[in-house]
Amino acid sequence: MAIKFIEESKTFKLDSKTSSYIFRVFEGEYLVHYYYGANIPDTDVDELRERADFASFCPDSPSARVFNFSPDITPFEYSTFGAGDFRLSAFAVENPQGDKITDLRYVSHNIYKGKKPIPDMPSTYVNSDHEADTLEVLTEDKITGVLVTLIYTVFNDYGVITRRVKVENKTDKPFYIDTIHSACVDLPGMEYDMLDLYGKWGKERSMDRHPIHRGIQSIKSKRGSSSHNHNPFTALISKNATEDYGDCYGFNLVYSSNFSIDVEVDGSACTRLVMGINPEGFKWYLEPDEEFCSPEAVMVFTNQGLGEMSRIFHRFYSNNLIRGKWKKAKRPLLINNWEGTGMNFDHNKLVSIAKHAKDIGLEMLVMDDGWFGHRDDDRTSLGDWFVADYKLEKGLGGLIKDVNDLGLKFGIWFEPEMISPESEIYKAHPDWCIHVGNRDRSIARNQYVIDFSRQEVRDYVYSMMHKILSENNIDYLKWDFNRNLTEVAAEHLPKERQGEVFHRFMLGTYEIMGKLTTDFPHLLIENCSGGGGRFDAGMLYYSPQIWTSDNTDPIERLTIQFGTSMCYPTSTMGAHVSANRRTGYETKMNVALWGSFGYELDPDKLTQEEKEEIKAQVELYHRYYNVIHYGDLYRLITPFENEFKVAWEHVSEDKNEALVTVVQIKKAYEQFFMLRLKGLDTEKVYVDQESGKKYSGAYLMNAGLNLTHKPNGDGQSYRIHLIAE
Ligand code: GLA
Repeated sequence: MAIKFIEESKTFKLDSKTSSYIFRVFEGEYLVHYYYGANIPDTDVDELRERADFASFCPDSPSARVFNFSPDITPFEYSTFGAGDFRLSAFAVENPQGDKITDLRYVSHNIYKGKKPIPDMPSTYVNSDHEADTLEVLTEDKITGVLVTLIYTVFNDYGVITRRVKVENKTDKPFYIDTIHSACVDLPGMEYDMLDLYGKWGKERSMDRHPIHRGIQSIKSKRGSSSHNHNPFTALISKNATEDYGDCYGFNLVYSSNFSIDVEVDGSACTRLVMGINPEGFKWYLEPDEEFCSPEAVMVFTNQGLGEMSRIFHRFYSNNLIRGKWKKAKRPLLINNWEGTGMNFDHNKLVSIAKHAKDIGLEMLVMDDGWFGHRDDDRTSLGDWFVADYKLEKGLGGLIKDVNDLGLKFGIWFEPEMISPESEIYKAHPDWCIHVGNRDRSIARNQYVIDFSRQEVRDYVYSMMHKILSENNIDYLKWDFNRNLTEVAAEHLPKERQGEVFHRFMLGTYEIMGKLTTDFPHLLIENCSGGGGRFDAGMLYYSPQIWTSDNTDPIERLTIQFGTSMCYPTSTMGAHVSANRRTGYETKMNVALWGSFGYELDPDKLTQEEKEEIKAQVELYHRYYNVIHYGDLYRLITPFENEFKVAWEHVSEDKNEALVTVVQIKKAYEQFFMLRLKGLDTEKVYVDQESGKKYSGAYLMNAGLNLTHKPNGDGQSYRIHLIAE
């Protein structure tokens, strides 16, 4: 069992492959956190509780019976508001009588094999019950009777612990959940750097690393999506942590809407992290006999550096988050017409792209935005999910038949959560977009958001999608989401439920995505939100890949892909070669290969020479597919540390194959360059597939490859493919 309860000391001990996590029932009722870090044995951990001195302003807990116990200096397992702990609150309810004082005490616990899903929400899962153990700890606020269950799952094969909470109302009066975080972690000291992923459209998930300071530091979204701006991921790492060394705590939320991750350093220089649904804009009315579940938080700890932290996330998400046929099946090599044609296409143009694509060796045509309603630009038709016959004169069936006859699969674009003011659906149902009474409706990209918190709206949109998908031979769906939520309220809900709309909207989206995966299990779904504006673990539960960014410039993509790889696996990152500026097709391919590879251009415009080059790329794509999609990633030189050159490496699980890629961002004066590889077997001998030269694994990792004479002009790149003898 990865989870045990030691009766004498009332200690819960959770042991993942790389971490121990310890908390206790203290004095019979308080849940107090003792330890989270590298594995330690079941020794006495008494001394880990006291992290600060009792000071005269520290409130005594009404029932504290021991010296130096005050809620304000105690590392709590799940902190609450108003009962003596003045630091960040993980949880608070607004009680029927209007106050917010919440004080949770231990009631009972239960340990079992396996893991249960969260109703109506995405979460990580077990393939068999032997993979994980789960602990549920029931707590209660004795005055109000609010019940909160803290749920932990420990995965045996990974350094992963997941957490979430469930609130139940077994009283006879409703109350509001005011704040509900999925996890609360108290760490000793403040000697950590905080690492998070920030950005904007076209520059998603750059990495920011900074020392934490006294007070509160946060990353958040209140956009109704996880957002381009901050990703629901953060890591607290030791100050000396590098890719290969140091303590790293990685935190990621399996949620796609408003989130917050707050880190507080208190006056005693101790650190608390809380993460979950952003309390701003959230308030949930819980009636008697109802329950509410928080999203899931995934926690990874390793003392082997950032690289290993990422690899744990990657392996875990590949095996225990991504589902369905495309979890393991080889994904079709696609061409998407968006960058090539925009919305300016018709039947013949798409068939012509498909013909060229077939010649080059591509496997699927994806028809992007512009195929429905009367959509020639972004001002109309979202919500009118019927075919624009004036563009597709043989209808959708006719187009797909012609594409299929060429030997290509077919994919289609939808933006289900949106509605254009100029559309038939809006004319018929102007109240179906999210809005507040007669307040101005903010428009963004010329569109509104359709209210997925309403069942009849979801049913209508889904019935239109279902018709298209069931009547046609469609293999792939790109689900887009091209604006954020404003004026968020819902007329169909009573006053006391207005704080639920953001979350209900998200549950609505999850419901439709869940139906899609059930009704069309063969469908490969790729998420998208103006590029990577909703690149999160919640979305990965429904779609095994996400369009990483609208920015397909290979040099600018480097920070985006390096940042994204902090916690999301290679196979999840949609990455396409496009016809954009600057660098040649070689570098475009080398960068795009690090992801779910494809093309996004108009092949009619390629020269014969370019076509030949792309044909050769397709061959390479097949050759490297397994090592890239199923291998381990090593970030060798990152663009956050080196402005001249970057390098990364994928190594197969059995360490028999490695693919190294080097990109010269700009030419440096210093040209001597030895690259030490990682993750190989020191005992094996590897053959460079291009030169035929042989190197021992020990040599490659300890001395390194001398790449001084390799191309190093601006934007140049190359690969080194090694296979063990
Ligand atoms: C978003 C996506 C693009 C494309 C357009 C279509 O911006 O990120 O890939 O699908 O929408 O409108």
